[in-house]
Amino acid sequence: MAFPKDFLWGGATAANQYEGGYDQGGRGLSTQDVRKAGSRTKKRTVTYLDRDGNLKEATRFEPMGIGSKGVVVEGEYYPSHQAVDFYHHYKEDIALFAEMGFRCFRMSISWTRLFPRGDEETANEEGVRFYRDVFIELRKYDIEPLVTLNHFDLPLYLANEKGGWVSRDTVGYFVNYARTCFENFSGLAHYWITFNEINCMLDWNKLGILTDEPDEFYQALHHVFVASALTVREGHRKDSRNRIGMMVAYGAMYPFDCSPDTYLNHLHCMHNMQWYCDVQCRGYYPSYKKKELERLQIHIEQAEEDERILKEGTVDFIGFSYYFSVVSKAGINVMMTGDQSHAVENPYLKKNEWGWQIDPVGLRSVLNELYDRYQKPLWIVENGYGGIDTPEYDFEGDIKAIHDDYRIAYLRAHIAEMKKAVELDGVDLIGYTPWGCIDLISAGTGEMSKRYGFIYVEMDDQGRGSLRRFRKDSFYWYQNVIHTNGEEL
Ligand code: BG6
Repeated sequence: MAFPKDFLWGGATAANQYEGGYDQGGRGLSTQDVRKAGSRTKKRTVTYLDRDGNLKEATRFEPMGIGSKGVVVEGEYYPSHQAVDFYHHYKEDIALFAEMGFRCFRMSISWTRLFPRGDEETANEEGVRFYRDVFIELRKYDIEPLVTLNHFDLPLYLANEKGGWVSRDTVGYFVNYARTCFENFSGLAHYWITFNEINCMLDWNKLGILTDEPDEFYQALHHVFVASALTVREGHRKDSRNRIGMMVAYGAMYPFDCSPDTYLNHLHCMHNMQWYCDVQCRGYYPSYKKKELERLQIHIEQAEEDERILKEGTVDFIGFSYYFSVVSKAGINVMMTGDQSHAVENPYLKKNEWGWQIDPVGLRSVLNELYDRYQKPLWIVENGYGGIDTPEYDFEGDIKAIHDDYRIAYLRAHIAEMKKAVELDGVDLIGYTPWGCIDLISAGTGEMSKRYGFIYVEMDDQGRGSLRRFRKDSFYWYQNVIHTNGEEL
């Protein structure tokens, strides 16, 4: 058997795209709650008041300007508010995951469900109770939770009033929140991720940054690194069974051609992705990054103890998302984010409807690359095919079946490469949690029609629908994959 018998097969979600119940159980608003839906052709925007009180909208990379505050506008549709309502469907959903044979389920905790403003000392009891109930429900079926503490959300109050991650205070607020989780969920959850896709956090939604000044970005990111390291330390102290990982968006990257200059540029592009892992796995800023910051005259305020904190708070495993591969070319800003509209085309690969270049073999390369570089256990915490599903209806107009052979083909090819990495290359891979195991809101576009799930949720791009859940063909296929521990694909 290629995969170890305790291999963690499962699926992944995130609160702001899945949970809903945004104003229930004492939950506070997060930065994602003021983010409207977009589409393949229209970027998502945040609604905010500028410093003079004018109502405006900004896309992810448009700086909102100092003094701006995110606001909810009456009558607008914000996908995170309801999402697909895990809040009220968690028992039904977990039963379906169990039916598929999940051994693990990745979810995130909504920071504002526990700390509505973010800076409170004690947690909202109703929020704690909700997550405890969810974990107990998972344990009932022997499903191990993998908990992301921060998946792209930040308490709106901290962003609006306290400078978000630019302020050092946010480190303390976050660590208090993480400590609360370790204390309250001890014995129920042992696998944790501190920050989702740490290399994709460069906007207001995630960091609370208001300008496009590199100083502001690097300062905020430094605080995230420190908060993550302190969280790792705290988690280990609270319970020696805790395993705490980092998470990065990591795709295979190929140099455009074989010229020496192209290769050197390629190395620099790789560094742009790798330096996040270097800090969190090795415990210090790599020399190439220090030199780059020096050259750009970027100044980061660091506390005296930060070096030691980063050293002591290195992670136990590397979680990463893998969806597509990219090509590096001088003058092109190679990004691992969802918007691949400016990506250099790879003639050897096909794309999905959102322009993501599908590359299963690249996954094997990446597994080798990360394992060689860091020698830490790896976990593919996101992977999957986002596409449009067309259900088949019966005479009464009820959904009868969803034939998603394209999704099965994508996953089959990727798992086959994972298997080779384990069996032939000796990579220490501990788990696989494909993204959006149940249909949920797309982070990039805010659409519902970009679906990843094994389970179909009846809902449209405006949040209308019965929210009923249906098994797709991939549901039964994945069930057999887990049942045979990856032997039958
Ligand atoms: C990752 C994120 O970037 O990719 C998820 O961690 C996201 O939150 C996923 O949903 C897929 O991206 P998208 O834009 O298709 O939802």
